[in-house]
Amino acid sequence: MMERLSCWVPGVVVDCLVLCLLLLVQSASAQRDFLSINCCANSNTTDENSIHWITDFSWFPDPTNCHQINRPVEHHRSYSARGFPISDSGKQCYNLPTFPGEDYLVRGSFVHLDSLSPSSFDVLIGVTKIGSVELPNDVVVEGVFRADREYTNFCLLKGDEGDPYISQLELRPLGDGSQYLDGYGSDDTVLKLISRVNLDNGTSGLDIRYPDDQDDRIWTPPDPATAASYKAVSAPSDILNPTAAAADVPFKVLQTALQDPEKLVLPTANLNNFDNLNHSYAIFLHFLEPDSSVGAGQRVFDVLVNGKNEKAGFDIRAGGGSYRRLVLNVTVRWGLNLTLVKVPNAFRFGPICSAYEIFEVLPKIEGTRKEDVDVMLTVRKELLLENNGSEVLESWSGDPCLPVPWKAITCSLVNGSTAVTKLDLSSKNLHGSIPLSISELIFLNELNLSYNRFTGSITPFPPSSVLISLDLRQNDLTGPLSELLFSLPHLKTFYFGCNPHMSSGVTYSFKNTKLKTDNGKCDGQTSSRPKNGIVIGVVACGSFIITMAMGIFVVCFYKQKFVRRAHDDLKGYPLAKSAVFAIPSTDDFVVKSISIQTFSLEYIEASTQKYKTLIGEGGFGSVYRGTLTDGQEVAVKVRSATSTQGTREFENELNLLSAIRHENLVPLLGYCCENDQQILVYPFMSNGSLQDRLYGEASKRKILDWPTRLSIALGAARGLTYLHTFSGRSLIHRDVKSSNILLDHSMCAKVADFGFSKYAPQEGDSGASLEVRGTAGYLDPEYYSTQHLSAKSDVFSFGVVLLEIISGREPLNINRPRNEWSLVEWAKPLYREQKIDEMVDPNIKGMFHVEAMWRVVEVALACIEPFSAYRPTMSDIVRELEDALIIENNASEYMKSIDSFGGSSRFSIIIERKNSIRHVLPPPPLSTEPSPLSSQPLTPPAPR
Ligand SMILES: *[C@@H]1O[C@H](CO)[C@@H](O)[C@H](O)[C@H]1NC(C)=O
Ligand SMILES: *[C@@H]1O[C@H](CO)[C@@H](O)[C@H](O)[C@H]1NC(C)=O
Ligand SMILES: *[C@@H]1O[C@H](CO)[C@@H](O)[C@H](O)[C@H]1NC(C)=O
Ligand SMILES: *[C@@H]1O[C@H](CO)[C@@H](O)[C@H](O)[C@H]1NC(C)=O
Ligand SMILES: *[C@@H]1O[C@H](CO)[C@@H](O)[C@H](O)[C@H]1NC(C)=O
Repeated sequence: MMERLSCWVPGVVVDCLVLCLLLLVQSASAQRDFLSINCCANSNTTDENSIHWITDFSWFPDPTNCHQINRPVEHHRSYSARGFPISDSGKQCYNLPTFPGEDYLVRGSFVHLDSLSPSSFDVLIGVTKIGSVELPNDVVVEGVFRADREYTNFCLLKGDEGDPYISQLELRPLGDGSQYLDGYGSDDTVLKLISRVNLDNGTSGLDIRYPDDQDDRIWTPPDPATAASYKAVSAPSDILNPTAAAADVPFKVLQTALQDPEKLVLPTANLNNFDNLNHSYAIFLHFLEPDSSVGAGQRVFDVLVNGKNEKAGFDIRAGGGSYRRLVLNVTVRWGLNLTLVKVPNAFRFGPICSAYEIFEVLPKIEGTRKEDVDVMLTVRKELLLENNGSEVLESWSGDPCLPVPWKAITCSLVNGSTAVTKLDLSSKNLHGSIPLSISELIFLNELNLSYNRFTGSITPFPPSSVLISLDLRQNDLTGPLSELLFSLPHLKTFYFGCNPHMSSGVTYSFKNTKLKTDNGKCDGQTSSRPKNGIVIGVVACGSFIITMAMGIFVVCFYKQKFVRRAHDDLKGYPLAKSAVFAIPSTDDFVVKSISIQTFSLEYIEASTQKYKTLIGEGGFGSVYRGTLTDGQEVAVKVRSATSTQGTREFENELNLLSAIRHENLVPLLGYCCENDQQILVYPFMSNGSLQDRLYGEASKRKILDWPTRLSIALGAARGLTYLHTFSGRSLIHRDVKSSNILLDHSMCAKVADFGFSKYAPQEGDSGASLEVRGTAGYLDPEYYSTQHLSAKSDVFSFGVVLLEIISGREPLNINRPRNEWSLVEWAKPLYREQKIDEMVDPNIKGMFHVEAMWRVVEVALACIEPFSAYRPTMSDIVRELEDALIIENNASEYMKSIDSFGGSSRFSIIIERKNSIRHVLPPPPLSTEPSPLSSQPLTPPAPR
């Protein structure tokens, strides 16, 4: 690391020379337009390359969330970072000045700070996500985009945990020579940098960047193994002919190359795609022929990506020059292999390459309609003049609607673009006049400014306004009101009472007889009463309301809690029309209605690009991937025409999911029920299913570590606990299995697929014709034989899932020896004989805490008790798993502290602990001691 840093103090003489040359060549230095931000730095500074670094206090004046970085980090100038404590969901953005039509490179650095709690968040250009940051890594996110406005937002969007932070931000105009976005529909594409490599002999280990690279791209050296496998060549300086000069890549980068007589394999960065989906990449390869004696047709090679020939017979010299660039467009699921192979012929020279860049090609997400953005920015600015420090106004940053709307704002899709349709600033203690520009929000349906201290007169709205509801009560506005307001064609409710200075004695005539209005009266008092009367009235009224409210508060405590929770969960999806589903129920304690969007078939087809990407198939039908207009990725489940039972499942799932919300259950975003099509829309779970992670395709790419397995198990158990205790009447999932436990981007477990779910039978239910549902390998034998359904059937299935997590084995596999076909039957004797080591997935051997593992094994075995009465409840299981996770995490912390002292003795330490723990906690089988979960002694070991 120190070596890397030394690149910042190169020979001053050389630098000056280069710089002077550059200044001569380019009279207007590109550097002048660089924007380099040291977040939270005390002062502006200029570095040894004459790059001017500024602090970010003009964006965020508040110094309270500044943090120091106490270690050197490569590519990094800043020794401080800014945290953004964002409440709820929300984002904070750096508004960067840009020229419309120009291409830019933007690079954000996120240096991990020990002082910050774990966090995960997304990084956006405008409203397009270009990366995500997860502690505890140092992350650099770089993107290339074409600006469409005089500014571009660079945003941090709060994720599931912790607060976003940033240490350094660089914006580099790419100038006219930039060809990155050419041919990619530059106005609807954003490129995300994956890697940018300068191929050389690998000995310098230095990056090349500004001032060698005018655009301050960072060219990293190849990994040493690659550099060592091939012959490094260096072109003489005089090779720089006019073609190469136009290359837009620094000569220093082009000059060195790697070469092989037959075949050049360029390893590429891990793409980290675990979603099993195709991604598009743009690969830019740069070639400079270093040997001027090599002519056209003498060095010819094919360029293969993952073994597929993407460019046959490539010849650097074909055009007569010595530099050529090759751009490849590829679509792959994971891994990218670049191979350059000499064409098997009499050509004399083998493949060569100087540098390459790989970008992921991302569709640019359309933001909120421009006019509404402008209005909202003006409204914010005007309100801030009188209300500096207002929490809600300070939280307004970036795009008003996307990907999540600002607080107090609701947006909808209108004619294909996102517009502000509701503004509710009630009770925000706002002063000053109402910003006039509010009336320019032409799709605004609802405006609520009540219970503030607004003064002045009321914003006139044009007759074309679609305003439905206007609430201006309890302010200090002055009248009279414009007739225009009352005659707005769509207005249905209009309240303006309790504005003491509103001119009294004016009676308004309402042409619109359907209009609901308080006619300016204040809580039953007429507005023409003397002023102090009104004040007393208000106070008395107010205290009455408070007393009432407290009573109601106590009575409705649970109700409130539930409603608020449901509301919060939905905050991210207020777009589009909403329908409210209410489940008829005798149980009126909890409010059971959550608004679910309805989507038109046309919209579904557009968002899935006509069902282009199939991601799964089930009994119900097919599941496709899609993207909503607001950029949210979704899974779209379409009932197939041939599925007969599908209708019932569709309705079942729609009804259940309309009523339940929990962070560990896959929520329903919306549905479509048009033209006999039955479609359900869920958020896309980018990390696939637990099953896939344990022993499917995904497991081959990355082993799911034990702490993650444990937290997934705990999440799923919490989700099921919620179902089982839902509204006092147990909901039974009936198809608990690892493929129905999905993982979101932060590996949070979400139980899915409620097509078979049912309320537990109650006394008096006929209960007769409940056909048995479930999946082989997971099915509770008691339920199967008695057909009596209870929550304990889910517990049995969950026990099987726990065994899968422990062993990494499928519940049924007839390719194994006969006694191992069934996971349950295989695990039982191993447990009795205390052969836990044989039960545990070989992939995580030595990587877990023994006591944590024992606890999970015990829970699993208790769950698969043949008699349901002996099985624990889901909430017992949650408690046990919580304990196991605490034990495991404490152990991991301990390991980490040992690792950080350079100890390589991780394995031996685990063994040591294992032994000591065996003493502390004797494993329960064979003993007469009851298991902590079940009062039933375990069956004695069966002879094998
Ligand atoms: C730093 O530079 C910025 C932009 O040039 C300027 O607005 C700001 O006042 C400067 N701050 C200090 C402390 O000099
Ligand atoms: C790459 O793909 C995009 C769309 O996928 C296409 O518009 C563009 O022309 C392609 N560019 C090249 C250089 O092939
Ligand atoms: C590697 O290349 C650099 C120039 O790029 C050169 O100065 C150095 O001597 C080379 N090292 C070896 C071991 O060839
Ligand atoms: C991914 O792309 C490959 C090749 O273009 C194609 O065969 C495959 O069906 C695609 N897979 C998905 C899930 O779209
Ligand atoms: C890339 O190449 C390596 C070695 O040649 C191979 O092991 C790997 O499977 C390849 N990956 C892909 C995605 O083709």
